[in-house]
Amino acid sequence: MVRIIIVGYMGSGKTTVGKALAQDMNITFYDLDWYIENRMHKTVSQIFAEKGEEGFRMIEHNMLHEVAEFEDVIISCGGGTPCFFDNMEYMNRQGDTIFLKATTEVLYGHLKMGKTERPLLKNKSAEEMQTFINEQLTKREPFYNKAKYTLDVNLLDNYEKIKISVERIRKLINI
Ligand code: S3P
Repeated sequence: MVRIIIVGYMGSGKTTVGKALAQDMNITFYDLDWYIENRMHKTVSQIFAEKGEEGFRMIEHNMLHEVAEFEDVIISCGGGTPCFFDNMEYMNRQGDTIFLKATTEVLYGHLKMGKTERPLLKNKSAEEMQTFINEQLTKREPFYNKAKYTLDVNLLDNYEKIKISVERIRKLINI
């Protein structure tokens, strides 16, 4: 049985790599944010707006416990998932966790395009966004570092590189 859970900051490529890995292994891919949106019939932004971050984290925690029971799946979770409750310990018990690690500069480069979809980033200027990412990374990396495997994805910006990451993950986890 295969269950791989991908963690990392917003914009690190969790969904892109997760999808490509699932396709390569011919198994099902789940993105925790999409799963939440389907189950709740609301977007992540709507949930943040209606219930605040605390309400979102509770839902995220409950939904994680649903998807991480599925078998033969690749799951990408939200950037904050590992940092609340005992989510990271739970994910480590449930599967092979992998941290996609990138610098603030690379993350900012990926995020500046789609920032309006992410409630934590909207309404921030370029400078505010970079400071925010930097500060959050410092707080969050200790959680991400609990993952069983780490992959540096700083160079992941085209299809060839995504393919290489998929190959590296398969080698790392030996699957
Ligand atoms: C969040 C990341 C988002 C989403 C929510 C909160 C975070 O997921 O869960 O907006 O706290 O980092 P992605 O990392 O998939 O963007």
